[in-house]
Amino acid sequence: ITLSRLTTSCQGLPSSSAATPPPAKYGGRHTVTLIPGDGIGPELLSHVREVFRFSCVPVDFEVVHVNSGLESEDDINNAITAIRRNGVALKGNIETKHIMPPSVKSRNNLLRTSLDLYANVMHCQSLPGVQTRHKNIDIIIIRENTEGEYSNLEHESVSGVVESLKIITRNNSLRIADYAFRLAREKGRRRVTAVHKANIMKLGDGLFLQCCREVASGYPDITFDSMIVDNTTMQLVSKPQQFDVMVMPNLYGNVVSNVCAGLVGGPGLVPGANYGRDYAVFETATRNTGKSIADRNIANPTAMLLASCMMLDHLKLYDYASSIRNAVLTTMNETRLHTADIGGQGTTSEVVQSIMRIIQSKGQLTTDL
Ligand SMILES: *[C@@H]1O[C@H](CO)[C@@H](O)[C@H](O)[C@H]1NC(C)=O
Ligand SMILES: *[C@@H]1O[C@H](CO)[C@@H](O)[C@H](O)[C@H]1NC(C)=O
Ligand SMILES: *[C@@H]1O[C@H](CO)[C@@H](O)[C@H](O)[C@H]1NC(C)=O
Repeated sequence: ITLSRLTTSCQGLPSSSAATPPPAKYGGRHTVTLIPGDGIGPELLSHVREVFRFSCVPVDFEVVHVNSGLESEDDINNAITAIRRNGVALKGNIETKHIMPPSVKSRNNLLRTSLDLYANVMHCQSLPGVQTRHKNIDIIIIRENTEGEYSNLEHESVSGVVESLKIITRNNSLRIADYAFRLAREKGRRRVTAVHKANIMKLGDGLFLQCCREVASGYPDITFDSMIVDNTTMQLVSKPQQFDVMVMPNLYGNVVSNVCAGLVGGPGLVPGANYGRDYAVFETATRNTGKSIADRNIANPTAMLLASCMMLDHLKLYDYASSIRNAVLTTMNETRLHTADIGGQGTTSEVVQSIMRIIQSKGQLTTDL
């Protein structure tokens, strides 16, 4: 019943995947945990579902809501359990309310550390149709995602004196450095730059840098260099084309990835992924909720749709990923369809309609042949 419903209602199935069904789990389909989150998360994810349905993507979503207004960790623990079961998740950002007591940890952070999603990966690439100050940017940023300044270890034992601990471990630094070099090699990249502040944090960042150097010695085909984080941000805003792959501890990764997203057109465009040994979670790279533009049909769906394509690649559904990705990138080439964040007047649904039209026309083209 399911199959006949799908074949009659789906459009634009990539021709090669029709010939060879992609590897999948149960009955040829994957189950993925979907966490709508706050702000623009729910509407963007409903567009992802719409595009997936339209493209006959063999993915079923298990929706898990996390209420950011509650102090209890029950919701996020349910979400974590669901991800442990399914292995993969796509999520909107969950708001971290600063008015909550300090004991209430960021749900997003809890999710990443509980699942040991140690590598945050973001690909910042200039899109030809989007007007920006700098052109031809193509940077892969790899951020350590589980320790550093995000260790949740703060205390005020003496009133007026807060100690906030930054944890750098040899094991986790080697692990992230190795991830960066492996990815660089796999993607045919030539250079890895470690970002640090070892001139001030001589032990902590010193260890991180040392670990990167050790790993680099096993990759003679890839050039390794390092740059202090302050110079990095200056170099990024003046000459971003000099960077290839970058690897860094947690907080620098947060700052640098936001600078890079800004360089290529903003938070609406760039997808992000969090990988661990066992699980993977996909979201927008800059991890903001976009509360002020929620439910107004003006948010740019690009970042979340591209995140869903990274997810499809992870599931080895390459044909579906490239069909959707090409339609998204072709749509972003059209100024007429740009949303307000990149200077246009297009609406979210206009962008999504265009994406589906392109998927459909490409699908028909290949079946006609
Ligand atoms: C680091 O990793 C090694 C090998 O996996 C392990 O034996 C050791 O206990 C780890 N060290 C720490 C401090 O976790
Ligand atoms: C900053 O980086 C540039 C480019 O790699 C380098 O030429 C320059 O010497 C660096 N400046 C400092 C102060 O480290
Ligand atoms: C976008 O436009 C550029 C030229 O402006 C072209 O090279 C590129 O192939 C186009 N990309 C897509 C996905 O249509």
